[in-house]
Amino acid sequence: MSTQLSSRRLGPYQVSSIGLGCMNLSHAYGTPPNEEEANRLLEEAFDLGVTHFDSAALYGLGHNETLLGKSFLKKHRQQITLISKGGVGPSEGKRVIDSRPESIRRDLEGSLKRLQTDVIDLYYLHRWDKKVPIEDAIGTLGDFVKEGKVRAIGMSEISAQTLRKGHATFPIAALQTEYSMWTKNPEIALLNTCRELGVSFVAFSPLARGFFSESLLAIDQLLEKDIRRAMPRFQVENFEKNVPFYNALKTFAQNHDCSLPQLALAWLLHQGKDVLVIPGTAKLSHLRENIAADQIQLSVHSLKQLDEILNTIPVFGSRYNAVSQSEVDTEQ
Ligand SMILES: NC(=O)c1ccc[n+]([C@@H]2O[C@H](COP(=O)([O-])OP(=O)(O)OC[C@H]3O[C@@H](n4cnc5c(N)ncnc54)[C@H](OP(=O)(O)O)[C@@H]3O)[C@@H](O)[C@H]2O)c1
Repeated sequence: MSTQLSSRRLGPYQVSSIGLGCMNLSHAYGTPPNEEEANRLLEEAFDLGVTHFDSAALYGLGHNETLLGKSFLKKHRQQITLISKGGVGPSEGKRVIDSRPESIRRDLEGSLKRLQTDVIDLYYLHRWDKKVPIEDAIGTLGDFVKEGKVRAIGMSEISAQTLRKGHATFPIAALQTEYSMWTKNPEIALLNTCRELGVSFVAFSPLARGFFSESLLAIDQLLEKDIRRAMPRFQVENFEKNVPFYNALKTFAQNHDCSLPQLALAWLLHQGKDVLVIPGTAKLSHLRENIAADQIQLSVHSLKQLDEILNTIPVFGSRYNAVSQSEVDTEQ
């Protein structure tokens, strides 16, 4: 196994600073890889030193956990930190946000079965169903820890205030939320709250769901089922206005001898030693490129120049549409 990747704290664990978001091995963007290709990617990530694997019951409505459990975990369960999430189905083949204790328990049992393991290292509440008091939902996750089915718990897409309430109910090891050069919302309050409480911060969608790519996304070619189609930033009227932002960052990356995806990951890793990233990819070449971002050093001067771009060129469109926004507890 490579020892090149640096490590960072994720709750009680030391894991690779760059993890693997497993979502698009099962759904979301483009056509998912077949089982053989997905396993090759997982094995390559492991060989390159990735120890932080992020899955969820929701991904492919159970497909993602089944994929991991079938072969990859059989070989590497003890060497990696296994992460999954519950509270968003799948219930009878549908995506349902449901934080009732009995529903989260049903989700966990389903995950353990599909992953073919007795215990999940870190289990997040994927979305908080605001009809259920957060104390009840987090209390249930805490019970899983006491029962030995989960080793640590986390929260996802919640506000600083809800994180505090959750943490007061049962210690939260990690918070996962969207953070990238075009979604800096956690800088309002969440990052500082994590630091104050000692909660690890995991940045999801660090590549802006593929916007930070070496070539500009052809949004007119997105598949019918691609989840970006429903996201305001990827709709033509906003996307076109976001091209100057893209061009400025692409030029900046070129001047710093790295690719734009690498710049996006390196920028996040430079926001603090407590920030971890979980880019998702189904391509071996992208995986290698992303992992190499761990080696990129940005000087204080470069970071300042980059901040100037981020603070002066506006990003058009909110990250979620009204329906998805109503399902989260964070700012637009
Ligand atoms: N907690 C939550 O609610 C939540 C929400 C979203 C995501 N997540 C987690 O975060 C992980 C990552 O987020 P994400 O998948 O939404 O977004 P992301 O990592 O920002 O972007 C993924 C997209 O970028 C492309 N990509 C990856 N590396 C690339 C490279 N080097 N060059 C060009 N394109 C590249 C991928 O396509 P290719 O396959 O072609 O490389 C894919 O379309 C997910 O897998 C999941 O584990 C959690």
